[in-house]
Amino acid sequence: MKIKAAVLTRSDAQPPYVESLPLEVREVELQSPGRGEVLIRIAAAGVCHSDLSVIDGTRPRPVPMVLGHEAAGYVEACGEGVEGLKPGDQVVCIFAPGCGTCSPCAEGRPALCEPAAQHSGAGELLTGHRRLTADAGPVNHHVGVSAFAEYAVVARQSILKVEQPLEPHIAALFSCAVLTGAGAVFNTAQVRPGSTVAVVGLGGVGLAAVLGALAAGAGRVVAVDRLESKLEAARNLGATDVFQADEDCIEAVREATRGGVDYAIEMAGSVHALLLAYEITRRGGMTVTGGLPHPDARLQLPALKLVGEERTLKGSYIGSCVPLRDLPRMFALYHRGLLPVEKLLTHRLPLEDINLAMDRLRDGTAIRQVVDFPG
Ligand SMILES: NC(=O)c1ccc[n+]([C@@H]2O[C@H](COP(=O)([O-])OP(=O)(O)OC[C@H]3O[C@@H](n4cnc5c(N)ncnc54)[C@H](O)[C@@H]3O)[C@@H](O)[C@H]2O)c1
Ligand SMILES: [Zn+2]
Ligand SMILES: [Zn+2]
Repeated sequence: MKIKAAVLTRSDAQPPYVESLPLEVREVELQSPGRGEVLIRIAAAGVCHSDLSVIDGTRPRPVPMVLGHEAAGYVEACGEGVEGLKPGDQVVCIFAPGCGTCSPCAEGRPALCEPAAQHSGAGELLTGHRRLTADAGPVNHHVGVSAFAEYAVVARQSILKVEQPLEPHIAALFSCAVLTGAGAVFNTAQVRPGSTVAVVGLGGVGLAAVLGALAAGAGRVVAVDRLESKLEAARNLGATDVFQADEDCIEAVREATRGGVDYAIEMAGSVHALLLAYEITRRGGMTVTGGLPHPDARLQLPALKLVGEERTLKGSYIGSCVPLRDLPRMFALYHRGLLPVEKLLTHRLPLEDINLAMDRLRDGTAIRQVVDFPG
């Protein structure tokens, strides 16, 4: 079938993107779902920094590629062998699907699924296929999803059914920002009630971590960003302390928290921010990193302190989530008003404005923006 999609055709475009137009909204061909695959109609797709990072070269990926991975939609048709889904079911997309049989999957860590990482890097679905074409050539999928499009064919493992229907623009936010941000708090850090949690980098993912820390019963939630507007947003969500990420920040946080925070969660995507998070973590505390810097970026730390101060440094991919286990829990928190994810949303836009959305994300004037697809 012919569908409208936003295709990244090159990775050398310079901002502003409303002028260089790296994403071309055009017609592409989508094949029918094969064995183990599902055709979904995309209803809403969030704009995440990981999409922007493909455009600006921070996350090099093969082009042409249809970007977008934070999405919600409805099942249209199931390929052979697909169980547990039927047309009309609401689903959210999972950008790190688990094959279910590799060692990390067997250990209950689908975020680290080996075949998924391999296929995703190659622009393929978990099934090993590409189902998009344009001008008679293949088009790559973005992390097995490619949601800046009216429809998508995805592997069965790349979607999860939403049992209690949600508005699509809200459901979409769970697919990446909430799984990643709140997941880092609940799963990676396993924050204890009453403890002090800092979040460095207050975009959609970092602010979802702020919401997660509040839901987990943190005693204090310290929010850090370079931009005053983001500190304001964090304060509105309920952060108890906010600090501008300037040269005095480390000392100021240490002083305000009597030696540092129990958990510092970096969601900015830079080594500078990660070092800041590490430095504001107290002796014996845990630093979690979820930002995705350029693959060449290197981190230098005083090795002795890791030992003498019994520090923990942990990576967190998709919030160390098992989506099948964690999404229903996060939805339950949302329905009880304990995880007000709608507060992350600042803009709703048509697909045609996708380059503008990338500019807004880049300059920090937006938090989460969602592309609506009229059903
Ligand atoms: N680990 C995962 O599974 C996963 C999933 C989604 C996104 N990500 C990554 O998480 C990061 C955040 O994503 P997002 O969509 O929220 O991005 P965003 O652009 O909306 O937010 C990033 C925030 O970090 C702030 N920032 C930048 N440098 C800083 C510094 N040195 N100190 C303090 N703050 C700083 C920015 O001002 C901005 O507010 C990106 O790197 C993204 O690729 C990771
Ligand atoms: Zn994302
Ligand atoms: Zn696996």
